Formats: sequence, structure tokens, C-alpha cells
Amino acid sequence: MRIIQASDYNDLSRKAANVIAAQVIIKPDCVLGLATGSTPLGTYKELIERYERGDLDFSCVKSVNLDEYRGLTKDNDQSYYYFMHNNLFKHINIHPENTNVPDGTEPDSHKECTRYEQIIQSLGGIDLQLLGLGHNGHIGFNEPDESFAPVTHCVNLTESTIDANKRFFASAGDVPRQAYTMGIGTIMKASRILLAVSGEDKAQILKDVVFGPVTPQVPASVLQLHKDVIVVADEAAMSKF
Ligand code: F6R
Repeated sequence: MRIIQASDYNDLSRKAANVIAAQVIIKPDCVLGLATGSTPLGTYKELIERYERGDLDFSCVKSVNLDEYRGLTKDNDQSYYYFMHNNLFKHINIHPENTNVPDGTEPDSHKECTRYEQIIQSLGGIDLQLLGLGHNGHIGFNEPDESFAPVTHCVNLTESTIDANKRFFASAGDVPRQAYTMGIGTIMKASRILLAVSGEDKAQILKDVVFGPVTPQVPASVLQLHKDVIVVADEAAMSKF
């Protein structure tokens, strides 16, 4: 793991955007794996600014998102499709047909997860996967478990994840209980992984991820076994190193 320390959230966003920008410049038709949540918002703003300045061209880029809530439609303002459209895609010149988010409205989870895994394969795999880190060590929606999930699958969200994400919904009762997510195996097949972590509330789990044992109880700890992981974390998130 290569660890890049950022002074604060803004600095983290710039540094994470630098890595993604370098990928897009070096390989204009790359496949970017993308994440939602609070952490990448600043990174996406940075990428939009660079696109507006004429420094980045997304016209040949393809994207695959990590996950989507099961049951939410694309126009639901809490769906990850909606998030990606509003926080990134509509502001840059990526072609909508080149963007992929699991279809939360497909009731047949096996069908949707198989379809999504095949899309990633047909694109030739992920060049750079951006990840945030859950308070329980989850990546995508791969929650602490007895084993590492190999492929895209349907998960039951844990109470801690429902609690962390309820801030975006009217109440905790409105948070969907299930999601479709890339598996740990899907994520680990990415050529390069960029893990962005911000805030003191993530300091203990980040320490466990980087220095603790590799265990499915801390899903992100598996990243220790990947050959090309960049962790960008701010001082607060690294305060327990
Ligand atoms: C989002 C995702 C999640 C988040 C994680 C951290 O697509 O897959 O794993 O990255 O929950 O979320 P934030 O950034 O909101 O702390």
C-alpha cells in the first residue's frame, strides 16, 4: 500500500483527483470504478473543475459504480444512480451509455448481479477503482462477514451502515435494507485501487485496515493483499497511525 497523507478534506480531494486525472490522461479510454458517499464529493468537484478548465476529457472513459440500493429507482434522489448523475456525470463529457450503476429496480438479484459482473468483464476489467471506507471497514457494501464475497451480489445492510446512511433519508426506516454491490473479488481484480478516507471518526478503522490482520470481519483489510493500492487519507483519519 502506498499512503499519501493529506492535510485536510480539501487537500485529500485534490490528491485523490490527481490520481484519477493521471489515469484519464494516461489512458483516455480507461474504465473507472466509482463510489458514492460523502468522501468522493470533493474529488468529483475537483474533476469537474479540471474538465471545465479543459484539462480532462472523459469522452472515451467508461465507468462502473460499486453499488446501488435494492428497490430504488434512478429518479429517487437517494439512489446512487441519481447521486452519480448529479454530482459528476451531468457536469462532464462522459457518455451516459458508458456509465454503469447496478439496477436497483431489477427484482431478480441473481440476474442483475450476473449481468453487472458480465458488464465489468466485457469492459476488460477496471483500471482504477475509487473506494470510500465504512466505519465498520466495509468497501462497496461488503459488510463484515465470515468470508470475502467473490462477485457482485445482494447484501443485507448492517445496522451500523443503516445508521451511518440514515442522514440522507427522512428517517432510518426509509433506508433500504438491501443493496447490490460488487464483491470483494470484483474489487480486487481492479488494476489499481484508490482508497480515500477522511475524518477522525475513521481513524481507528483505517488503522485496523492498514495494520491489522486480513480478515473478512474488516473487509477493507483485504486491500493489504492487492499489489497496487493508494490510500489517500487526511491527518484526522491518520491520527492513530
Ligand atoms: C459508496 C460505498 C460505501 C462508502 C462508505 C463510506 O458507493 O460503496 O462503501 O464508500 O460507506 O461512505 P462515506 O464516504 O459517506 O463515509
